Amino acid sequence: MTVLETIQKSTEFLGKKGVESSRLHAELLLAHVLAMPRMKLYLNFERALTAPETDTLRELIKRRGQREPLQHIVGSTSFCGLDMTVNRHALIPRPETEMLAEMGWNFLSTLNSQLSTALDFGTGTGCIAIALAVKCPSAQITALDVSPDALALAKANAERHQVASRMEFLLGDGFAALSTPRLFDLIVSNPPYIASAEIATLDPEVRDFDPRGALDGGTDGLDFYRRLAKQAAAFLKLGGKIMVEFGDGQAPEIKSLFESEKWIVEAVQEDYSHRARILVARR
Ligand SMILES: C[S@@+](CC[C@H](N)C(=O)[O-])C[C@H]1O[C@@H](n2cnc3c(N)ncnc32)[C@H](O)[C@@H]1O
Repeated sequence: MTVLETIQKSTEFLGKKGVESSRLHAELLLAHVLAMPRMKLYLNFERALTAPETDTLRELIKRRGQREPLQHIVGSTSFCGLDMTVNRHALIPRPETEMLAEMGWNFLSTLNSQLSTALDFGTGTGCIAIALAVKCPSAQITALDVSPDALALAKANAERHQVASRMEFLLGDGFAALSTPRLFDLIVSNPPYIASAEIATLDPEVRDFDPRGALDGGTDGLDFYRRLAKQAAAFLKLGGKIMVEFGDGQAPEIKSLFESEKWIVEAVQEDYSHRARILVARR
């Protein structure tokens, strides 16, 4: 089959399996197999695939048809322009979270301190922490997670981007991972925020492939915000800020939760679809 025929057949198959943007995913998987940028496929529509190429692609398309995320199949995703290795042990970084990272590095850049410090609570792949370290070359970044496998992945990603020497990786349950009391300029977090009962209703790509521990925010989805609102102030320097991402529709509850713990909410930031998704607060 030619490249064009392969794209058409794969698109049809993925569409039948309920995969959104089936043509795009067919093209991305084929481009991955042929080790060429997706746009180059368009210059090669008449090229015939070899038998090994066809076999490899068939396997990948089958996996995508079983709703395995594209990012797991190709093994990486882009976050703030940085290539992040991804696997089943950590949440696939989402585009919305790039805004949180950007707000974080903008704040760190305004500090005069030689050595600004930030804590990423629930680091997963390390995407936020690594983006902060890359964009703020004198900052020291602490990444913590309760999952040893996620933390190993975060460390590998940090090494890949040559920022591991300015980062530390702490394993443990929330702030208990910090064995000695420490103060940070910034605490960022994209914690698990899905209500436990809602997880079963999510798309298979999320429900079956993101780790449950990265999704489950307790009965109402707000468990981690309660912990952060109660505990985070003790780990912030004077003038320090907390920035947390939350789910669509959670803004009013998160805002009042932080305010009831004496935080001053500075901003509730909307994402590019005009949905409130990030809270910025200080004491
Ligand atoms: C929604 S994911 C976010 C991952 C990453 N920061 C991102 O934005 O893509 C939440 C992360 O919090 C971690 N986590 C869950 N419970 C935790 C706990 N009690 N203490 C520390 N981290 C926890 C999970 O393992 C997961 O990596």
